[in-house]
Formats: sequence, C-alpha cells, structure tokens
Amino acid sequence: MAMMPLSPDLFARLDESSDDLFYENPRFVTHIDDAAIAAVTQLYREYFPPGGAILDLMSSWISHLPSEIAYREVVLLGMNQEELAANPRATECLVRDLNQEPRLPFGDARFDGAAICVSVDYLTRPIEVFRECARVLRRGAPLVVTFSNRCFPTKVIAGWRLLDDEGHQELVARYFDEAGTWTDIELLDRSPGRDGDPLYAVIARSKLASR
Ligand SMILES: C[S@@+](CC[C@H](N)C(=O)[O-])C[C@H]1O[C@@H](n2cnc3c(N)ncnc32)[C@H](O)[C@@H]1O
Repeated sequence: MAMMPLSPDLFARLDESSDDLFYENPRFVTHIDDAAIAAVTQLYREYFPPGGAILDLMSSWISHLPSEIAYREVVLLGMNQEELAANPRATECLVRDLNQEPRLPFGDARFDGAAICVSVDYLTRPIEVFRECARVLRRGAPLVVTFSNRCFPTKVIAGWRLLDDEGHQELVARYFDEAGTWTDIELLDRSPGRDGDPLYAVIARSKLASR
C-alpha cells in the first residue's frame, strides 16, 4: 500500500447516489459489539484530556466516550439529525456530508481531541477531511480513528473492499501521511478477544503550529 497511488478508482463506491438518501432514516443500533465499544472507550480515556473539547466526526446517537469523564464540549458531525439529537453527550451537532463538503465549519485549534469511529471507510475525500481535522485540533491533539471488519458494503470505498484488516490500518496511516499535517502516527490492534468484533485504531497528532 505504501507505494500504491491513491487513485480516484480506490474511492469509487457501488452506490454512488447521494449519502443523504442512505442516511435519511435513523439507525438506532450499535455497529460493533459491546467489547469492541469498550475498547474504543478505553482509547478515548487514554487519548482525550478530561475537560477538553472533543469533535466526534461521522457521529450518530452514541459517541462511546467514557461516562465517568466530563468534557467541556462534545461537538458531533454526522448525516442524520435524529441520531445526533439523541446523543446524550452532545453539546452541539450538525449535519454535513463530508463527501460533498470536506471543509469543517470550525475555527483553528478549537478542539483537544477528535474521533472517527467505524466510519472512515465511507470517506471519498479523506485527505481533505484529515487536513481539516488537523486544522481544527490544537497542536499535539489526537485524531483517533477506529474500525472493525464490518461495513455497509455499498457505501464503502472500493479500496477498503480490496484490503484486509492490516491493509485498512496501512490505508488510514497513509491518509495521515498524505495529509502532511500529522505526526506520531500509531497503528494499534485493540481487539478484545477471538469471539468478538476486532477493533483497530490508527491515531496521530496534529502538527500544525498553534494559531
Ligand atoms: C457505521 S455508522 C457509525 C456511527 C458512529 N460513529 C458509531 O460509532 O456508532 C457510520 C456513520 O458515518 C456517518 N457518515 C457516513 N457518510 C458520511 C458523510 N458523507 N459525511 C458525514 N458523515 C457520514 C453516518 O452519519 C453514520 O452515522
């Protein structure tokens, strides 16, 4: 993957209709099992500072943040208003299609941490989104990208369908690298056990100077 160009065909999808249609109706479900969710929560415990401002990108009704930790703000961005409105951690939420508009409507260095949970595989313009994410994080703040081995197959990018779990980690690390705005890229396997959903993470820190 390191040498493979990120050509446009890698970002084609079986269903190229507007994402608005696919996410029109709320899905009040969990997309990974409880043990995998606990692994995501543990990562947030380790990487997000208590009392910080957190951005949950590609969010839904559940953010997996540790219940015992308070954050100054939890800002959600996703596709379905009903799901976001039901999220008990939200201090602010907005509906936005990042494949249409990868720009994030937030000021520079506003956040102390950001998350993309089981969703990075739906991004068709990930480098732009990752660059924007670095911009809205303060210098040194992490973006925690987690994923498992499940997806909505018609909406996932072609590159994701071609790769195995390790390849997915390498692809996400490549997004960070190509964005050019990240440092300390880590690839983690936090899978809870053989019987449950696997859980992988790729994490990096914004290297943009404080503005
Ligand atoms: C599998 S769900 C994961 C939701 C949530 N992050 C979680 O952990 O349960 C995929 C999410 O990606 C979001 N999403 C998909 N395509 C998107 C797009 N083009 N722009 C913004 N969000 C998108 C949807 O709103 C949906 O909530």
